[in-house]
Amino acid sequence: MHSHQFNRLFAADQLRAPRGFIKPILGASPILEIGAGKGHHALSLAQTTEQSIIAIERTRTKFESFSKLASATDYPNLQPVHADAIPWCVHALPPNTLAQVFLLYPNPERANPNQRWHRMPFMEFLLSRIRTGGRLTLATNVESYAHECEQWLCEIWQLPVTIAPVDRRSERTAFEVKYLARGERCWQIEATKPEGYVTRFDDWSTVR
Ligand SMILES: C[S@@+](CC[C@H](N)C(=O)[O-])C[C@H]1O[C@@H](n2cnc3c(N)ncnc32)[C@H](O)[C@@H]1O
Repeated sequence: MHSHQFNRLFAADQLRAPRGFIKPILGASPILEIGAGKGHHALSLAQTTEQSIIAIERTRTKFESFSKLASATDYPNLQPVHADAIPWCVHALPPNTLAQVFLLYPNPERANPNQRWHRMPFMEFLLSRIRTGGRLTLATNVESYAHECEQWLCEIWQLPVTIAPVDRRSERTAFEVKYLARGERCWQIEATKPEGYVTRFDDWSTVR
């Protein structure tokens, strides 16, 4: 199974490490959250697992709220990161590492569909960093986005995928709470990295 038959190569070697980059502590089965917002989901997850959780947020104001809450709660397994997740992943993660990646309620990029996570060449790199059997979990309140994401993960990225409505009582993130309170439907798309999955980044790493 190949990830890349239809896709442009992600230019990993052209990305510098984010400013102030610090190597994360990865532990045995690390979980990565991209676009963690104020950190609601990452903080709840840190309470319920001993796995290390790295939660990245690019927007300063959101990250500051997250960072304050993380300092107050002080979970030893939670690492909040203020960075753009794309160069951060390139410099922080060896191949075949992550047990799970969460992308919860990403911007639907209505004006720039090619900026959707599942459409970006970066997706191949991210998949190379997930371990065999690891999962990619994405949630959205936009029905067309959910179906497009499912289709891309299945047809373009050649992954086994499920799609299901999010339970109306779920309250993992600020956006999820807001959408469900308004009576909107939300969807969860989950892909699993199968045995024998090949990407062009499986032997590529800046991490030593
Ligand atoms: C719509 S918000 C959702 C926040 C949170 N997951 C929630 O559900 O409440 C999307 C978040 O992703 C963050 N984001 C977008 N691109 C990012 C990137 N490349 N690296 C890190 N964070 C990113 C944005 O700053 C924004 O806070």
